[in-house]
Amino acid sequence: MTVNLAILPGDGIGPEIVAEAIKVLNVLKADFAFDVAYRYGVIGGAAYDAEGSPYPDSTRALVHDCDAVLLGAVGGPKWEPLDKPSRPEAGLLAIRADLGLFANYRPTKVHPQLRDASTLKPEVIDGVDIMVVRELVSGIYFGQPRGVEELPDGQKRGFNTLEYTTSEIERIARKAFEAARLRRGQVCSIDKANVLESTEYWRTVVTELHAKEYADVSLSHMYVDNAAMQLIRNPKQFDVMVTTNLFGDILSDEASMLTGSIGMLPSASIGENFAMYEPIHGSAPDIAGENKANPLATILSVAMMLRYTLNREDLANRVEAAVEQVLDGGLRTADLSADLATAVSCSDMGEAVCQALREGK
Ligand code: IPM
Ligand code: MG
Repeated sequence: MTVNLAILPGDGIGPEIVAEAIKVLNVLKADFAFDVAYRYGVIGGAAYDAEGSPYPDSTRALVHDCDAVLLGAVGGPKWEPLDKPSRPEAGLLAIRADLGLFANYRPTKVHPQLRDASTLKPEVIDGVDIMVVRELVSGIYFGQPRGVEELPDGQKRGFNTLEYTTSEIERIARKAFEAARLRRGQVCSIDKANVLESTEYWRTVVTELHAKEYADVSLSHMYVDNAAMQLIRNPKQFDVMVTTNLFGDILSDEASMLTGSIGMLPSASIGENFAMYEPIHGSAPDIAGENKANPLATILSVAMMLRYTLNREDLANRVEAAVEQVLDGGLRTADLSADLATAVSCSDMGEAVCQALREGK
């Protein structure tokens, strides 16, 4: 049966990195009998330019009709002056919400070959293997009321709402406990329970669910400020970190730098009925169109898609092994490279992964 993928390249470097991921999928198609078809759609600024909305109906119809979504990145200075609902980021939030993608998995694994690419000491990062499980469709990103209002004294007031319901906390905590069972069996739940009621309640619900159904997993709690510090001080203490939308956004960027570059980190966003895969980095408008971006996060996102949605662990392992092999061979894009003169292009990196895949056949 043909696997139907919705491909949403988006903005900035999005089209370049997605093109390399497609090359990899095409090798699976040609050499490994993986029956895949692509349907392209627009999202973000590109969608606004083409159809007047960052998540237009055409894209909505497309993604509802596919087995999984592969997304590049959205955003760029060109669209910053637009009102909020028209901006590229609004398109990304809209597709996450529309598809109910509440669980965002962001694995941070230090590749031994890249230990010198990190700004942290090798002995601190060697062996780091963390799964950040970020809640993705609620919290302060979506809470109402929100806005900027005029005050009687002539000032304005900007405000947002941080809220979590019992079921929203339970379903993401469940995903974290289940992920931990397949890993090292430890969950650290990150909150700001000492100040924010909503996350104090988060802690209560996680603790109760743990006692009721997941007592075999070890559970700890940490305040987010401490977690930010511990990630740099001793990242190896973490297995699965589960947290709110905003804290997960921040901590996953921080965790990515343990690996040397945010250009290495894939992600999976999963709901009851849909799944979307994307690199965690943004659209990098400063290097867009220059063939300099690192496509590995997107290629590794394809591996996550093969594993989690398409039940092709075998192909996922092959893609990941091909990436390791290319890193072993010393190939580095500019983000990973101390010496820019020897950095390879986005397309060379993608081609090298394809070559390694073919050789591994
Ligand atoms: C991410 C990004 C997005 C987010 C932006 C682009 C809206 O930073 O996926 O981490 O904040 O979720
Ligand atoms: Mg982010």
